[in-house]
Amino acid sequence: MADTDGLLEARNFEATAPVAGGFHVKGAHAQDWGLQNRLSRIFRRDTGRTVMLAFDHGYFLGPMAGLERIDANIAPLVPDADAIMMTRGALRTSIPSHSDAGIVLRASGGPSILRDLSDEHIALDIEDAVRLNAAAVAIQVFVGGEHESRSVANLATLVDAGQRHGVAVLGVTAVGKDMVRDARYFRLATRIAAEMGAHIVKTYYVDQGFETVTASCPVPIIVAGGKKLPELDALTMAYRSIQEGAAGVDMGRNIFQSEHPAAMLAAVRAVVHDDVKPEEAYELFRERSAGNATS
Ligand code: 5RP
Repeated sequence: MADTDGLLEARNFEATAPVAGGFHVKGAHAQDWGLQNRLSRIFRRDTGRTVMLAFDHGYFLGPMAGLERIDANIAPLVPDADAIMMTRGALRTSIPSHSDAGIVLRASGGPSILRDLSDEHIALDIEDAVRLNAAAVAIQVFVGGEHESRSVANLATLVDAGQRHGVAVLGVTAVGKDMVRDARYFRLATRIAAEMGAHIVKTYYVDQGFETVTASCPVPIIVAGGKKLPELDALTMAYRSIQEGAAGVDMGRNIFQSEHPAAMLAAVRAVVHDDVKPEEAYELFRERSAGNATS
């Protein structure tokens, strides 16, 4: 372990320098064929980006707003997502097996919203993930949290299993209520997840210095949507994330809690894959939602 006294502040992020490559997913050029193939089910080859629809929230929140009936509310949106993130329970019970979207399975669990959320365990066997044709499995790291060490060890265990079977691992940087959400914290958390072997890292957008978070993480960063915002604000956040180096979004509430989830998903796709500016994407949202309460 390096001596941690007198550490210099990191500052040379070379945010625009090209990354090592030859494969359309950052950091995966040296992975095996099966893992690259699975990553290609998540990240589009033409843009190198993904729109992942997240609806795994029930694993600790129960039937939250918008997820009361996944079969009725979410399944119709799946054809328009590049990838979907959910629990195996939601997948088996509520999503048609002919879906083309890349499957990202929530692989951690334990505490509910009533308890300490960092007290998580691995809650999925890699064999079941392979049986479900998962492209990736997802697990949280609680950097700075009460159970930081165990959550990082959980990630490493899952990466070992993922590497054995060619299944990618999505490391999710979970933020405790009392933690400062700034670029410095997210550089730390995302880099730890990548160094422990995560193939994709999900984190939150921050207004200041987000490009240093994406530049210093050697694998793709995808951005969580967070709490429901007005549509234009959510599209602005998605746009800035992409322009500052994110490889996509892993968005839940800002899509499925919109009055017009399908229209919002289309607008997010335009921002992520076509670099459409937020105001223009918002117009697309308004056009698509005009006269239709649920589309
Ligand atoms: C829940 C998650 C969610 O998948 C993630 O937070 C994305 O959803 P949202 O956009 O609603 O924040 O990891 O544990």
